Amino acid sequence: MNKIVIAVDGFSSCGKSTLAKQLAKTLNYIFVDSGAMYRAITLYFLENNIRFNDTVAIERALKNIQLKFEYVAETGKSDMLLNGVNVEQQIREMRISENVSPVATIEAVRTFAVAAQQQMGKEKGLVMDGRDIGTTVFPDAELKIFVTANTDVRVERRWLELQAKGEQVSKDEVKKNLLERDHIDTTRAISPLQKAADAIVLDNSNLTREQQLALALQWAKERM
Ligand code: DC
Repeated sequence: MNKIVIAVDGFSSCGKSTLAKQLAKTLNYIFVDSGAMYRAITLYFLENNIRFNDTVAIERALKNIQLKFEYVAETGKSDMLLNGVNVEQQIREMRISENVSPVATIEAVRTFAVAAQQQMGKEKGLVMDGRDIGTTVFPDAELKIFVTANTDVRVERRWLELQAKGEQVSKDEVKKNLLERDHIDTTRAISPLQKAADAIVLDNSNLTREQQLALALQWAKERM
């Protein structure tokens, strides 16, 4: 069987990462959460007081950013390292979620992140989730999946995730943040979130994790 590249795109909190992780684990592929890279860049900008409209400072800052994923055997997950420091917890906080979409609209940021992502896909055998993976990062990916779920289901999932981490936010706040991000992600000038023409839509509003994995695995095997 040939190794392939699988692109998983979709809106925030609709189960993209869950599906991408399941697929990578089952196929013994590398999993890359491209959103984590935009989140780590956002964290760096916030911590170093880089204003999002200061293009000179942004270009300079990007030269000082090194992003790497580190596989953690105990959790079976890959954590995000920003300049060698594990920032996996921090990049999931609400303050990052509130700032990451504007950061992801910045051209220099996208050029930087996309180049790093394309490098990771050179050897194939990779599942990457994000917004522009099937359209911009890997337009030739053998399998492209566009994941959707209805808004209430997404809000509930995200809220439960934040609760589990002890973050006290209301469902209304979560919904507002999700809808705001949807708007920014789909309307930005560079690589907006959109379904690639050859992507398969997977609406998982009423699917269990096992059911969505079975579907995606079948599509993957047909393309290997
Ligand atoms: O998947 P996520 O919610 O962790 O992504 C965080 C933000 O990063 C999201 O608001 C949009 C942006 N993003 C992007 O623009 N392109 C990607 N390939 C992945 C994420």
